[in-house]
Amino acid sequence: MSDFEKLKDKLIKAQSSEEVEIVRGEIFGKNGLLNLEFKKLGSLSPEDKKKVASEINAAKQELTKLFNDKIIKLADSEIEEKVKKENNDVTLPEKDFRIGKIHPVSQVIDEISSIFSEIGFSVEEGPDVESEYYNFTALNTPENHPAKDMHDTFYIEENLKTLLRTHTSPVQVRTMLNGKPPFKIIAPGRTYRSDSDQTHTPMFHQLEGLHIDKNINMGHLKGCLNYFIKEFFEVDKIKMRFRPSHFPFTEPSAEVDIGYRIENNKIIIGEGDKWLEILGCGMVHPNVLKYSKVDPNKFQGFAFGIGIDRLAMLKYGINDLRSFFECDYRWLNYYGFDPLDVPTNYRGLSK
Ligand code: PHE
Repeated sequence: MSDFEKLKDKLIKAQSSEEVEIVRGEIFGKNGLLNLEFKKLGSLSPEDKKKVASEINAAKQELTKLFNDKIIKLADSEIEEKVKKENNDVTLPEKDFRIGKIHPVSQVIDEISSIFSEIGFSVEEGPDVESEYYNFTALNTPENHPAKDMHDTFYIEENLKTLLRTHTSPVQVRTMLNGKPPFKIIAPGRTYRSDSDQTHTPMFHQLEGLHIDKNINMGHLKGCLNYFIKEFFEVDKIKMRFRPSHFPFTEPSAEVDIGYRIENNKIIIGEGDKWLEILGCGMVHPNVLKYSKVDPNKFQGFAFGIGIDRLAMLKYGINDLRSFFECDYRWLNYYGFDPLDVPTNYRGLSK
């Protein structure tokens, strides 16, 4: 039996990966058979050299294949052996529920949904990848509006027709096109803008609100937001002010600030002389109703867009927005919520 045949035989008979490793050294190692044989070539005549070299190469190929097959087979059977010995039932439920935590953003979305569902709003959703038409045009945004600027909007296609939605407002149009008035919906979700600092991240969360019916006016909007803020911050008194503003899709438009003060490094909501902007709102522009196939002579209503992450920061005393999205388990462990504590209005939202 040649040396090659002997090693081949040894490889075939090997029973464990350790044994295979030993034979591997003997064949492919620095001082292994292949290297030894190649070294011998130097002393041969040119014709013999060619002949022997091709024989060694053929043997090398055969052994390599044998070796790879053997490794795979052994690994499979070793895993099988191991699994046979272990008696873990992977279908059993997790024993320790304390490990997982609900992210403050998810918690706040659940809290807000619960508050609005108490007064008859249902939840809608729209896509993150949106068309330019729903994100801007149908929302009465002029062709040359600064918000459409490349610097603010993440466009997906070079023809600028598809983008990552810059706000949740396109869900207003999608909802109205999909049904018949009256509409009373909220739409939470991810939104995207090219921005990053302590209070801005390229991805953030908004919650859209839309109430369309006959005879809805600014008073209803004010009452609705007043109720929401009191419920959300779990306070009886709230200081709120409407500041005139501009959005192409509402007329008149306003931004809403809430009053607060700082005491012992903590934010106290509902009193004090500082103001913090938390949402944009207004009466839905007749053009938006037209784009949405709703007759503006019969129906009208209000819309608002709330910055969810900002509300979460305020309510739970988190001072850097970027920390929300760093996926740091220690942070989540500290600021996160118990998965079994589902927020409800009657049992308490966050306690
Ligand atoms: N979409 C606006 C924004 O992102 C907020 C808004 C929503 C304003 C609805 C008015 C009505 O800033």
